[in-house]
Amino acid sequence: MTGAVSIIGCGFVADLYVRSLQAMDGITVVGVYDRNSERLKQFCAHWGMPAVSSLDELLERHPRDGVVLNLTNPAAHFEINSACLSAGCHTYSEKPLAMNVEEAKTLHAQANAAGLMLASAPCSVLGEAAQTLGHALRSGIAGTPRAIYAELDDGFVPQAAYKKWISESGAPWPFEDEFRVGCTLEHAGYYLGWLISWFGSVRTVVAASAETIPDKEGNGPFAPDLSVATLFFDNGPMTRLTCSIVAPHDHQIRIIGDGGVLSCKAAWDNSAKVTFAKRMTIRRRLMESPFPKRLKLSQPTHPKVKRWGAAAMNFMLGPAEMLDALRESRPSRLSNDFALHMTEVTLAIQNAGETSGAQAMTTRCEPMEPMPWAM
Ligand SMILES: NC(=O)c1ccc[n+]([C@@H]2O[C@H](COP(=O)([O-])OP(=O)(O)OC[C@H]3O[C@@H](n4cnc5c(N)ncnc54)[C@H](O)[C@@H]3O)[C@@H](O)[C@H]2O)c1
Repeated sequence: MTGAVSIIGCGFVADLYVRSLQAMDGITVVGVYDRNSERLKQFCAHWGMPAVSSLDELLERHPRDGVVLNLTNPAAHFEINSACLSAGCHTYSEKPLAMNVEEAKTLHAQANAAGLMLASAPCSVLGEAAQTLGHALRSGIAGTPRAIYAELDDGFVPQAAYKKWISESGAPWPFEDEFRVGCTLEHAGYYLGWLISWFGSVRTVVAASAETIPDKEGNGPFAPDLSVATLFFDNGPMTRLTCSIVAPHDHQIRIIGDGGVLSCKAAWDNSAKVTFAKRMTIRRRLMESPFPKRLKLSQPTHPKVKRWGAAAMNFMLGPAEMLDALRESRPSRLSNDFALHMTEVTLAIQNAGETSGAQAMTTRCEPMEPMPWAM
C-alpha cells in the first residue's frame, strides 16, 4: 500500500491515526492543518509532521490521487468535507459525515457529481474481528441468523476521570464536545458499519433516545446519552443496537442463528476473539455450548495497532482502502452510499427521542465486498 494523506484537525483522535500510520507501510503525510495554531505546532513538533498555515494551502498542496483526512470536531465536518470535495480531493471524514441528513445528502451528491470518494469513519468494519464475523455468517456455521443484539455501552462516563484522558501529543479528551454530539453519533457506527456491510440497507429504524443524566459538566445543550434502536434490514435479521455513556461497559455483539450464537465482546479491538457457541440439548435442557469455539481466518489479515486508551484499532484501514482502490482503479469498499446510509441510520437513532415511532430509511446501500483475506 502506498499513497499520500493530508490531515485537517489534530486533536485527541489525530494521535491515534498517527500510531496507526506508523503500522502501515508507504503512506506519507504531506500536510497538517488545525485552526488552533498552538495545537498544530504541538502536534507537528511531537510527530515531526509538516504543518501548513491554512486550509486553502493544505488543499492546494494535496495530491489529487491522495486522501484528505477530516479529523475536526463534528460541527465542522460538513463545511470541511464540502471544502475538500470542492477542491477535488477524495475525502475520509471522521464520524459523523454531517450533523443532519440534508447536509449528508448534499455532500454525497457533491462527491458523486465530482467523481470523488467520500468515506466516513469508523473503518473497524475492515478490521479482522468484523471480517471474521462476516466470514462466519457467509459460511453459515450458525445457520440462518434470526436476531442480533449489539451493545455499545461505555460505562457511567460523566463520573469518569476524563480530565486525565490526554492524548500522546498532549490533546485533552474533548468532553464537552463529546457530550454535545452524543454517544450515538459518536459510536453507533462501530456496529452499524459491520451490520450494513453484511446485510446492506436498513429499511426501518424504530428507536428511542434520551438524555438520562442532565447535569453533565460543561455548556449544553447536550445530546441524548442513551439510545435503543431496533433495526429492520432489507436482507438481514431484526437487530437491537444500544448506545450509552450510562450503562456498565459492554461492547458485545451476539448473532443468534438457527445453529447457535456467534459473538465478539470488543467492538474496538481489531484482534478481538470471535466465537461460535453451538446450540445443543443436554438431557432436557436447551443451551448454547459453554465452550464456544474460537473462529479464525486462515490468511494473515492486516497490520495491528497496540491498545491505547479504550481502543486497539487501526484507524488507517479506511484511508488505506481508499488509496488501494485509487491505485487499483476499483470502487472502494467504503463507498459513498455506505457513508451516507450509515449516517442516515445513525441520525435516525440519535434524533428518535421519546415518540418518533418508526422511521423509514430513504437511502440505500449494498452489502460490502469482504476483504480478500476473508474470502
Ligand atoms: N476522542 C476520541 O476518542 C475519538 C475517537 C474516535 C473518533 N473520534 C472523532 O474524531 C473527531 C475529532 O475528535 P477529537 O476527539 O480529536 O476532537 P478534538 O477537539 O480533540 O480535536 C479536534 C481538532 O480539530 C480542530 N478543528 C475544529 N474545527 C476546525 C476547522 N474548521 N478547521 C481546522 N481545524 C479544526 C480543533 O482545533 C481541534 O484541534 C470527531 O469527529 C470524533 O467523533 C474521536
